[in-house]
Amino acid sequence: MQTSIGVSHAKIILMGEHAVVYHQPAIALPIKAIRLTATLRPQPKDQMIASTFYSGSLRAAAKTRFAGIAQLIRQLLRFFDAEQQGFMLTIASELPAERGMGSSAATAVAIVRAFYQAFGQALPREILLNWASVSEKLIHGNPSGLDAATTSASHPQWFIKNQKPKALRLPPEGVLVIADTGTSGHTGEAVGQVAALLQGDKDYYQPEIAAIGNLVKVGALALAQDDLVTLGHLMTTNQQHLKTLGVSTPALDHLVDVAEDAGALGAKLTGSGLGGCMIALAKDVSTAQKVAAALTGAGAKETWVYDFSTKDDGQ
Ligand code: PMV
Repeated sequence: MQTSIGVSHAKIILMGEHAVVYHQPAIALPIKAIRLTATLRPQPKDQMIASTFYSGSLRAAAKTRFAGIAQLIRQLLRFFDAEQQGFMLTIASELPAERGMGSSAATAVAIVRAFYQAFGQALPREILLNWASVSEKLIHGNPSGLDAATTSASHPQWFIKNQKPKALRLPPEGVLVIADTGTSGHTGEAVGQVAALLQGDKDYYQPEIAAIGNLVKVGALALAQDDLVTLGHLMTTNQQHLKTLGVSTPALDHLVDVAEDAGALGAKLTGSGLGGCMIALAKDVSTAQKVAAALTGAGAKETWVYDFSTKDDGQ
């Protein structure tokens, strides 16, 4: 094992969360400016982890909310025939946890990359996503795989469960504002809640899932035609369906209204809901700044601005 650094980043779901669990398409964007790194250093003994989520031994992590990631690490050690190898794994994350930005998937992606680099092995994308699903399944129950695909991608993703993600292109203009309600989203709980609704009244809720899928397809066309106005409308309609599915909250609804009143073309929650973040689409940077200021004034804990023209690659 040699010292290595695996990198990943945040993601947001532009459209299609929840329906994506039921094989509808979703569109997600990598937010490369919000980064996570996993640094793996060999040491003579002790298998240790230091992160904002958990600090301590790998063994003790099994009984914490880091258990899913700990299981992934154990399986990676076994795969590389290094179960007795001492190490210090340091995870530094700019992603807020449990806010719909993909922090658990980003952690898994960075760790898998660090392990493959540490053992000098090439890592094809399918293998990376496969590994990330080990912890994602333990943490979220029935994940679509979208988070891992997007926290490891450099381009917007067109994603359908169990299919190879496709890269999408963003319009040359348009700015997204991301705002954090400051309360945790609960992916497993939200996904379970939607599953219960579908089980209880399939005739009523299945069309909601299909409708979200259709919105996403039209959304991809709007993106391809650089049609931000239509995209904004679609996002707002998507939010109505997410409300029907019971995953929005009064705080998310309020921020959506505030963003629209401040000039956003459309707004919605992003990720699993029941807390976490919302997103608003603005036509340009100055409108986005107004929207971000209004959201902060309305109680958003943090806001980020993602300008399509810079592709968020820090250049
Ligand atoms: O809240 P997040 O970032 O984990 O996003 C969850 C997205 C869902 O569609 C609700 C679930 C999934 O696995 O795709």
